[in-house]
Amino acid sequence: MFETITTFSFPTRIIFGMKAIRQLPGCLEENGVRRPLLVTDPGLRAAPPFRAVVSALEEGGVEYEVFDGVHPNPVEEDVVQAAKSYRTAGCDSVIGLGGGSAIDVAKATVVMAREQGALADFEAQAGGMNRLKGPYDPIIAIPTTAGTGTEVGRSSVITSQKLKRKIIIFSPWLMPTRAILDPELTVSLPPSLTAATGMDAFTHCLESLTCPVYHPICDAIAIHGLELIIRYLERATRDGGDIEARGNMLVAASMGAIAFQKDLGATHSLAHPLSTEFGLHHGLANALCLPAVMRFNLDAAAPHYALLTRLYRNGHSNESDNREAAEAVHKVEGMIERLGIQRGLRNHGVPRESLESLSASAFADSCHKTNIRPCTREDLLRLYQESW
Ligand SMILES: [Fe+2]
Repeated sequence: MFETITTFSFPTRIIFGMKAIRQLPGCLEENGVRRPLLVTDPGLRAAPPFRAVVSALEEGGVEYEVFDGVHPNPVEEDVVQAAKSYRTAGCDSVIGLGGGSAIDVAKATVVMAREQGALADFEAQAGGMNRLKGPYDPIIAIPTTAGTGTEVGRSSVITSQKLKRKIIIFSPWLMPTRAILDPELTVSLPPSLTAATGMDAFTHCLESLTCPVYHPICDAIAIHGLELIIRYLERATRDGGDIEARGNMLVAASMGAIAFQKDLGATHSLAHPLSTEFGLHHGLANALCLPAVMRFNLDAAAPHYALLTRLYRNGHSNESDNREAAEAVHKVEGMIERLGIQRGLRNHGVPRESLESLSASAFADSCHKTNIRPCTREDLLRLYQESW
């Protein structure tokens, strides 16, 4: 018992609350930096969250540069250009403002501003945590969606157009030094993106809970994250101005990413190629594949799924775990439907004849290696067919 040594760590300082954005100059000062590069996407530049960040910086007398060229599914060239702006302007820190894409580009920017070579040279490999020789300059993450949770995560996912796949760089040095969660910055997110990003957070909590790695602290965080998402995601999707729902979803998304330091599962392996090859939003891709993966995992994950059903029911029941676990799939499908997500990969531009090659890419993705039930390539193909 307990012969394997395990390390538990939760180092990102999170600043949460209405107008938390005003703490930004103080965060920079605490980190001893004065000239950040603000990394964002072109859509946000004209939107209220950008103005809120800029006015916080200006009120604090902070000189900053802006890079606003991040693509929705970020590509390596975004990082190359951001790192160039960083060096030219003599920056000493980054602020990632946006969804997962802008924050992931911000993380990779501090690495590539210093290192030589291509992003793939620093890619995570089995046991390859130490390919990044940090510490790098401070990263401050300001999410405008409640989904990826990358504001508290150790990875950055960037697509290499040359290699035609996602590159994952992964290191404790990529953990932001501060995450600022201000619910007001998420109110302008439209319902479809609120639903999709929220389903990413939900999938993080559920896949990390079921992943067979010993981490009871992450398990507790995942369970409460699920509880918050069940309670608040539909509300935030129905009424974007519901600050209570928005705030709880922001916290739940961070909890999902804290929990998945355990690892993820097959849903994420299926989702990644759908974004790379067909441009599906990552959260949407998860939502479309999750019910099939839950059915596949049903016996292995029965106690976890039974717990999920009880969270939906807001309490305990006298039913057996097996019966409650089967019910969890219906509960999740019902929630996805109420969120307005149309089921079926076929309805999202994925041709049936692509499933074979998608399953090869999904099998090459490492997330399914920690799925609670081991998967073959044929299993992944069947899961795509079932989700089609
Ligand atoms: Fe995800």
